[in-house]
Amino acid sequence: MSQNAIVNLDGQTFEFPTFVGTENEKAIDIAKLRDLTGYITYDPGFKNTGATKSAITFLDGEEGILRHCGYSIEELADKASFLEVAYLLLNGELPTQSQLDAFETAVKKYTVTNEALLKMEQVIPTSTHPMSELSALVGLMEGQYNPDETSENILRLIAALPILAAWNYKKSIGEAIVAPDQSLDYCSNFLKMMFAKPGEDYKVDPIVSKALNKLLILHADHEQNCSTSTVRLIGSSHASLFSSISGGILALFGPLHGGANQAVIEMLEEIKQAGGDTTKFIAMAKDKTSGFRLMGFGHRVYKNFDPRARIIKKAADNVLTALGVKDPVLTIAQELEAAALSDEYFVARKLYPNVDFYSGIIYRALDIPTNMFTILFAIGRLPGWISQHMEMMTNKDPIGRPRQIYVGSPERAFVDIAKR
Ligand code: ACO
Repeated sequence: MSQNAIVNLDGQTFEFPTFVGTENEKAIDIAKLRDLTGYITYDPGFKNTGATKSAITFLDGEEGILRHCGYSIEELADKASFLEVAYLLLNGELPTQSQLDAFETAVKKYTVTNEALLKMEQVIPTSTHPMSELSALVGLMEGQYNPDETSENILRLIAALPILAAWNYKKSIGEAIVAPDQSLDYCSNFLKMMFAKPGEDYKVDPIVSKALNKLLILHADHEQNCSTSTVRLIGSSHASLFSSISGGILALFGPLHGGANQAVIEMLEEIKQAGGDTTKFIAMAKDKTSGFRLMGFGHRVYKNFDPRARIIKKAADNVLTALGVKDPVLTIAQELEAAALSDEYFVARKLYPNVDFYSGIIYRALDIPTNMFTILFAIGRLPGWISQHMEMMTNKDPIGRPRQIYVGSPERAFVDIAKR
């Protein structure tokens, strides 16, 4: 039975409705709080703020549950293809075989070299981080297409991201680009554009393309995280889908979010260079004055374990064995995890490895350069961002505009510059 939340303020009693989601998540609806009481809520980092109602992804951080439209991440990662999961996120239902075939064909139709965009890509300096370049190029797509062609633009984006990523890599190694191959599936085409020499009869290793498929699925959506909230916030001003995704890519770039996958490998390398002793790094992570955090550890929502990290840890072991790769940083990562999980500091704060802790080790085994790890995350997250943007527009969510409590100077008179 629904109940009201009672708030007592300044000698008055106010009632606010509550509601419960499909999975028993409870919320107090404070939409009228300021109008009725004059107060706002104060919640830095939105730790307790539900910004929207969403039917796309459910996660329970205490129980380590993640489901998209009701389907568990474990089953999706094990049984689906990335485009199948993309279809699910965009449509709310798993596709039939003919629906999936039609969706794949539609994505392939746009899997072509965009010559005008390529010209722009070529003038971006190689010193630019791949994530900045990706964001810029997606932003520039804005000028090429009619924003009202929503379904075409969705397909264009899904087709474009792997192409833009491969261009960046080819430029960084001074090689000519390899044209997309529409005869290949999504992951295999990306691998060919990345690793084939121009004109080479390149054979995609199925172990590698399967591993990539799994990684992309594991990143496909994660409800209202920093980059997705950015996408929704930008979109809420009715900026275009391209602008919203361009902004989401930049939010993902930061090391506290998607950029952690690059930061983890850099940290593990640093530990290796320093002789492999994890003790010093654990001590540094616990020392608040050091400014150092254990990258790939901790999560805003998961306080028990991150189900994606469990799947990725197992996959890392399998992929390295299947490819015959011996990566010493895997051993360091395992030691670091074991040391942290038995340390009171990490246990008390419920800090566990997150999705980014082991993903970089797989990317390395697939020969993806470290500065492109977050690009892979972005390719994976794209269907999630798009579906969240669509939901926001369909639901006619109002423009996102938090309030604040002003703590600066009270009113004062302007002082002429000569007298300051
Ligand atoms: N290493 C050491 N201490 C940590 C870490 C860490 N990785 N993460 C959190 N803590 C500590 C904090 O210092 C704080 O301690 P205190 O209570 O003594 O002050 C406590 O744990 C809670 O941390 P918060 O920063 O308040 O947690 P928040 O939810 O704001 O941050 C975040 C979550 C950003 C993921 C954080 O855990 C972090 O910085 N982790 C490292 C970066 C990372 O791996 N990011 C990827 C996240 S997954 C993703 O976005 C795809």
